[in-house]
Amino acid sequence: MASHPSPLLEQAPLSEQVALITGAGRGIGRAIALRLAQAGAKTTLAARTEQELQATARSIQDTGGEAFAVPTDLQQDEQVTTLVEKTLARYKRIDILVNNAGGGPPRTPIVKSRLADWESVLRVNLFAAMSLTKHVLPAMIERRHGAIIMLGSTASLSGRAGEAAYAASKFGLRGFTHALFEEVRRYGIKVSLLCPGSVDTALIPYNKRLNRDKLLSPNDVAEAACNIAISSPRACPAEVILQSQFEPFT
Ligand SMILES: NC(=O)c1ccc[n+]([C@@H]2O[C@H](COP(=O)([O-])OP(=O)(O)OC[C@H]3O[C@@H](n4cnc5c(N)ncnc54)[C@H](OP(=O)(O)O)[C@@H]3O)[C@@H](O)[C@H]2O)c1
Repeated sequence: MASHPSPLLEQAPLSEQVALITGAGRGIGRAIALRLAQAGAKTTLAARTEQELQATARSIQDTGGEAFAVPTDLQQDEQVTTLVEKTLARYKRIDILVNNAGGGPPRTPIVKSRLADWESVLRVNLFAAMSLTKHVLPAMIERRHGAIIMLGSTASLSGRAGEAAYAASKFGLRGFTHALFEEVRRYGIKVSLLCPGSVDTALIPYNKRLNRDKLLSPNDVAEAACNIAISSPRACPAEVILQSQFEPFT
């Protein structure tokens, strides 16, 4: 049910805009959804775990924002289509797409890796982002307006042993994002690859040499995503590398 926006939200920089955020149940995606909602955007939240999505939605609604939770498995093509259809049915437009959902199997040497794990990483981290982008683009092109933010990683820039499939997905996403930028910049659509170093989320496993307080926080990444969404119409932060100021490993 739509609630009346507070006077604060009415003045917010994204107040007329609709943002679709994947992986919004926890970690970086949750923080981005909260931050974009705080900036006034109406949000669609997608991930598989409904309970986590509802928790994010409640946090947004509690502060006067608008959130629509759509449980979605991005590995299923028809669910990707349904996610876009439901968002358009509810809000009539999508201004900001944040392709954030992703992950990877535990670090494993290539020779011991399972093909099924590789396929799953590539499907979520790369193919789903490509597919969602294809679905939202026609309306953005028609309106000469939009922003597409991809969650790359410093693993988009250099590969690490034991993370070959993850690196392949994130390098692939970088290539897709660069090509997309060149294709749609003339329509006023912002395209950005946001590449954080390690962020303190469930994706980063316990390591006794790691001081988690010195990692980036999900809120740091969310701030960068919001800055991309509200950047000047003349300028596009096409690739943003975000590193912790601190050395987290002892
Ligand atoms: N944490 C880091 O250090 C770091 C650094 C650089 C880049 N990144 C990137 O940032 C993004 C978010 O990572 P995170 O650290 O926030 O991870 P996270 O806390 O594990 O959150 C991942 C999110 O993606 C969703 N997701 C995973 N598989 C999905 C699927 N098949 N369909 C729909 N949703 C799915 C998860 O929800 P469900 O499991 O409920 O579906 C969850 O909401 C990823 O693309 C990651 O590669 C992370």
